[in-house]
Amino acid sequence: MLAPWRSPLARALHRHRRQPQARYLQLATVTPEGYPANRTVVFRGFRDETNQLRIVTDARSGKIAQLLQQPWGEICWYFSESREQFRLFGSLVLVAQDSPDPALQQERQQIWQRLSDTARSQFAWPHPGAARDHRPESFAVAPPEPTAPLAEFCLLLLEPQRVDWLELCGEPQNRWRYVRDATGYWQQAAVNP
Ligand SMILES: Cc1cc2nc3c(=O)[nH]c(=O)nc-3n(C[C@H](O)[C@H](O)[C@H](O)COP(=O)(O)O)c2cc1C
Repeated sequence: MLAPWRSPLARALHRHRRQPQARYLQLATVTPEGYPANRTVVFRGFRDETNQLRIVTDARSGKIAQLLQQPWGEICWYFSESREQFRLFGSLVLVAQDSPDPALQQERQQIWQRLSDTARSQFAWPHPGAARDHRPESFAVAPPEPTAPLAEFCLLLLEPQRVDWLELCGEPQNRWRYVRDATGYWQQAAVNP
């Protein structure tokens, strides 16, 4: 069932549909030491029939080691035209090359197929975050096959548990909080901005 926060988020996405940057969001994870780690990623849509947000990433990137220890993440997403902020907290599910679930594996493959050659090639680049490789040939890789994802290619799902929506326009501003309870039901409440 679609969560109640999906409608305002869908409205914001629709209103910003001609702005590619509206699909960039910030994803925070937690380091093994308990520190925050934050970065920009691209929203790749929702998984069908779920409230899970899809992101793609490299298995060798820092966020993967972090979420394997602490499988929690928070997204912060600002829509500049409508002046709204959505914060979505929840668990992170990694779909890597060795993930056993066939449906998730199929989804990983479909998203890989839809990427551009340029986007796919990045997964064949040298190890992200390692000392800079100055050999031009290291980055001039042949585009990988669209049919089979490279081992480095991961699908990452955020399953929201708490959502905080702030609307700056309005006098005063509006803010709502949504919390999913143990039965999966979403409680929602208007709160002070
Ligand atoms: C506009 C923009 C979009 C990005 N999209 C992604 C993305 O979809 N997936 C990703 O893993 N990194 C993406 N990055 C790079 C990340 O911000 C980050 O540098 C990289 O994932 C390594 O982060 P980590 O070491 O914390 O894992 C993007 C960066 C920018 C500026």
